Amino acid sequence: MAWFMRVWIFLLLLLEEAAGGSISSSSSSRRCYKRVYSFGDSLADTGNTLYGSSTLPQASEIIPSLNLPYGETYFHHPTGRWSDGRLIIDFIAEQMGIPLVKPYLGIKSGKIKDWNPTMEGVNFAVGGATALDSSFFIDKGIFASNNYTLSVQLDWFMNLLPSLSNSSSGLKEILGSSLFLVGEIGGNDFNHPLKEHKSIKEIRKYVPLVINEISSAINKLIEVGAQTLVVPGNFPIGCNFKYLTMFQTSNKSEYDEAGCLKSLNKFAQYYNDMLYAELNRLRLLHPTTTIIYADYYNSALRLYRSPTQFGITEPISSACCPLTDVNNPTDLHCGSPGVIACVDPSQYIPWDGWHLTEAAYKLIAQGLFNGPFTNPKLDLSCVHNSEI
Ligand SMILES: *[C@@H]1O[C@H](CO)[C@@H](O)[C@H](O)[C@H]1NC(C)=O
Ligand SMILES: *[C@@H]1O[C@H](CO)[C@@H](O)[C@H](O)[C@H]1NC(C)=O
Ligand SMILES: *[C@@H]1O[C@H](CO)[C@@H](O)[C@H](O)[C@H]1NC(C)=O
Repeated sequence: MAWFMRVWIFLLLLLEEAAGGSISSSSSSRRCYKRVYSFGDSLADTGNTLYGSSTLPQASEIIPSLNLPYGETYFHHPTGRWSDGRLIIDFIAEQMGIPLVKPYLGIKSGKIKDWNPTMEGVNFAVGGATALDSSFFIDKGIFASNNYTLSVQLDWFMNLLPSLSNSSSGLKEILGSSLFLVGEIGGNDFNHPLKEHKSIKEIRKYVPLVINEISSAINKLIEVGAQTLVVPGNFPIGCNFKYLTMFQTSNKSEYDEAGCLKSLNKFAQYYNDMLYAELNRLRLLHPTTTIIYADYYNSALRLYRSPTQFGITEPISSACCPLTDVNNPTDLHCGSPGVIACVDPSQYIPWDGWHLTEAAYKLIAQGLFNGPFTNPKLDLSCVHNSEI
């Protein structure tokens, strides 16, 4: 029976490798990824807002991120990114040793000319995007900033497939060696209503709908050939500068030790738990696919808890370039002509109040590929390539 046992153990090992950690969370995803396909909102938008609004007559007046000081730190010009510099997705691309992921709307409009379909991935993320259809919000009288929802972004991807390869084996090879970054998406499904002072009790009702939308997108991506997907959860939004000013209260017991709003962080954790449970369900349905949870919540929370440990000197209650100043209401905000940012954004976590600085995004990204904040572990180092 010895040969039988050996075959059995061998099969078990194969299964474990294929499951990429759904059996043991200590195993890691060890493929050498060649490109990234990204879906999401302003946390990952590398220029779709810019190219998508280029036909609007007064785009730069309406959209702050099309003006300096957005982009001042690394690019030295606005790129449409909602930060002073690079985003988490940019640091992931750098870590992989691939070019920064180009925005779909720039490629589609022909304005980005040096995109190579079989070599490079594409970024479909658009600032303001929601997971749910915009009609869901319109019906409730909630303002949704655009119609570039997750399902629209998925349609863009599906329409692009023929330009990648016309053979199913070619497509399988391309998609199989790609990393799919599905999110962060869904945050705006809660931000848009919260901005209009809808209650946490109300937005909790949207959680299953949002997760269902994300789950369905993941299923569709796996169906066409995605093999490794990274699915980020929500940030600790109770630490968000904008919410700290919007929901400011003299009641000390509403805040945690870091000065964050407990109720909003509790909501974000609840959402992330639900998302994680759904990913576990998907892992069982797709045992040969690697579905990685990216814990943006805890990777960001450690910065809010001990900023100085990460070289950040400014308190979370101050943003480098606020979009609006609650104490001094005026039309001038970050991105308005003449508005200048703080001298050194690298000393801040909040950039414009909704979004974070490049410095914060870099630390959060490092927490994903160097730290413990992905499950199973996201290994972008490529050193194990020969073993696969
Ligand atoms: C989204 O689409 C709907 C229906 O086509 C349209 O009425 C609405 O104005 C659009 N919203 C935005 C923000 O573009
Ligand atoms: C697949 O076929 C279409 C239509 O014939 C063509 O436009 C496209 O370039 C082809 N894609 C590849 C990767 O060859
Ligand atoms: C202060 O906040 C706590 C926690 O949310 C709540 O239980 C308590 O009733 C609040 N106190 C006042 C005076 O509003």
